[in-house]
Amino acid sequence: MITSLRLLDFKNFADETLRVGPFTVIVGANASGKSNIRDAFRFLHGIGRGYTLAEILGGKHLGGQAEWQAIRGAPNEVGRVADAEPGSRFALEVQLRLDDINAQYLIEVSRGAGESGVFRVSREKLSAGGWEPVYTSHPYYPDPVRDQDDDTHLLLRMEKTGTQRKYGDRIAVRPDQPALTQIQEHKRIAKPHKDKAQRVIDALASMRFLDLIPDSMRQPSFPGQKILGDSGDNLPTVLREICADSKRRQTLIDWVRALTPMDVDDFQFPVDPVTGLVRLVVLEKGGRTCSAYSVSDGTLRFLAMLAALLADDPTRFYFFEEIDNGIHPTRQWLLLELIEKQTATGAMQVVTTTHSPALVTSVNDATFTNTSVICRPEDATDAIIRPVDGLPDAEKLRKSQGLGRLLAGGWMEDMIVFTKDTEKPDA
Ligand SMILES: Nc1ncnc2c1ncn2[C@@H]1O[C@H](COP(=O)(O)OP(=O)(O)OP(=O)(O)O)[C@@H](O)[C@H]1O
Ligand SMILES: [Mg+2]
Repeated sequence: MITSLRLLDFKNFADETLRVGPFTVIVGANASGKSNIRDAFRFLHGIGRGYTLAEILGGKHLGGQAEWQAIRGAPNEVGRVADAEPGSRFALEVQLRLDDINAQYLIEVSRGAGESGVFRVSREKLSAGGWEPVYTSHPYYPDPVRDQDDDTHLLLRMEKTGTQRKYGDRIAVRPDQPALTQIQEHKRIAKPHKDKAQRVIDALASMRFLDLIPDSMRQPSFPGQKILGDSGDNLPTVLREICADSKRRQTLIDWVRALTPMDVDDFQFPVDPVTGLVRLVVLEKGGRTCSAYSVSDGTLRFLAMLAALLADDPTRFYFFEEIDNGIHPTRQWLLLELIEKQTATGAMQVVTTTHSPALVTSVNDATFTNTSVICRPEDATDAIIRPVDGLPDAEKLRKSQGLGRLLAGGWMEDMIVFTKDTEKPDA
């Protein structure tokens, strides 16, 4: 589980840390930086997928199809643009709790000067298990040929593992790809180091970024496709897979009936005799059937989120942009309840952005502690991230007025500006 994300000179953040819990809610005005945080998580996910920096930032195509979309704003506006000057380096630091160990991973990326403008890793550090370092990049290598400005290597100092002392060596890796996904291939690196790195890679690789598109959810899907696509594709077969297990089917139906009291009562999954593809047909209360082609957009969004939350896949981290999008306020609290229930054990994590007062009013105490606000004060270009529960009297006002009213009235931003001013030494 990811427990925090630090953003250094990334987009509109100078040095801010987001607290991440089982269910993390991010609020803030338009253009405050909520989706920039999604971009940061996507960058980390790209690392987990084993991509090079150029691929993570610029996108990857395979046979003319986009396998991976570029990070928004790259290449010129991924580092923090200050005084109209594009930033030449940024860093992200993530902390994770991986069953029995804590891990911390830092990556700093710099952009070469001049026309080449190539991105390279300029600093990287992995610690795991009681925060012991696994490797650190080595900026003070005494060899002038391979010093820190060397464009062809990033030098790592591998920590000694105790049993295999000779592995406390320096090794050179290519700077165009994070070392995390290169050290696996190095014969000289001890297995315990590789194992720790692999656990971090697995955590980053299993992130998913749902960006639901109703038309994708309407399409029939290929039998055996069990993983919901990022735009909601494969919905029929993912739901069919859940329904194959009677207990999970019952859970799904219970939630569907509660969340969609009029529109969905049950499912059918007819197979198209010509194409062999599986279609989704919903059974409405009163017995009317409705094919996925005519199901409402909001209903499909619900079904896709249910499919994601109840599916039996190894996804451990979901980022849902604007979770309330297209969903009536009276139903948002039920969706919230489902996410809070599914994430309570920590086996699955959800991060969401929202503008919905109705949704934030209904968060439980645990989610409240993982609700953060992003604010760009009027006189500043950089944004600030603060846990809402740390703002003055937040808990008391939440109880008396409801968090939604505080969100809608701009109280959180006012409090950030207020506390920021009082933090100044001369205030
Ligand atoms: N490289 C950069 N340097 C500085 N600021 C940046 C950079 N890239 C983006 N920004 C700022 O971030 C803003 C966009 O932020 P973002 O897309 O995260 O907003 P949001 O909070 O998701 O808003 P909405 O609720 O409208 O979706 C831009 O308007 C710009 O001010
Ligand atoms: Mg946004």
